[in-house]
Amino acid sequence: MLNIVLFGPPGSGKGTQSEKLIAKYKLVHLSTGDLLRSEIAAMTDLGIKAKAIMDRGELVSDDIVIGMIRNKISANIDSRGFIFDGFPRTVAQAGALDEVLAEKGKEISLMVTLEVPDDEVITRLLKRGEQTGRADDNVSVIENRLNVYICQTEPVIGYYKEKKKYHPINGIGSVDEIFARIEEEIKKVN
Ligand code: AP5
Repeated sequence: MLNIVLFGPPGSGKGTQSEKLIAKYKLVHLSTGDLLRSEIAAMTDLGIKAKAIMDRGELVSDDIVIGMIRNKISANIDSRGFIFDGFPRTVAQAGALDEVLAEKGKEISLMVTLEVPDDEVITRLLKRGEQTGRADDNVSVIENRLNVYICQTEPVIGYYKEKKKYHPINGIGSVDEIFARIEEEIKKVN
């Protein structure tokens, strides 16, 4: 199995690169942001609670996202592997992910971090906000998402560094250039 954690700040291109990885490696895409937005669209109890949190740019509780990921992994355990996009976002989520995979005799192959400076991600997200109206793509919420990333999510890098699975790449350039950089990192472990 090829199990990739695709990591980086909001707007760093995780969703965009996931699409290319799925096409090339036939992996199952697990985006906690997409899963939560589906709950919101379906107006489930979980979705209604999550919407208020997401609209502020804060993190939904670890228990909720770990539960969602656990179900999706179990349902797709015979696949060629997974792309984890926007998960794990806390060290507790990273530990839980390892536990869920270990229960099934699997592990994370590598964590690829898309390194993109704040000014670039702000530009990208404001542009997307104008184009799509996504509720959390506005200046004040983007600032909060970036703060949350620094305080709660960046420590996840240390978790994977310790396990020698951390692969940072330059996330500036064309989508194809960045994809080629990701492929280089995958070749090192696959
Ligand atoms: P989530 O949906 O995961 O949002 P995010 O991490 O903020 O990521 P984005 O989707 O904004 O960006 P991306 O890195 O995927 O970039 P993309 O490819 O879209 O999470 C939303 C919320 O859900 C969170 O704030 C939280 O509340 C909650 N949540 C989710 N997961 C959670 C978890 N695990 N725990 C707790 N809470 C959770 O690209 C962005 C834009 O840039 C696009 O318009 C794209 O076209 C453009 N672009 C992409 N690549 C390039 C490039 N190379 N050059 C120029 N533009 C580019």
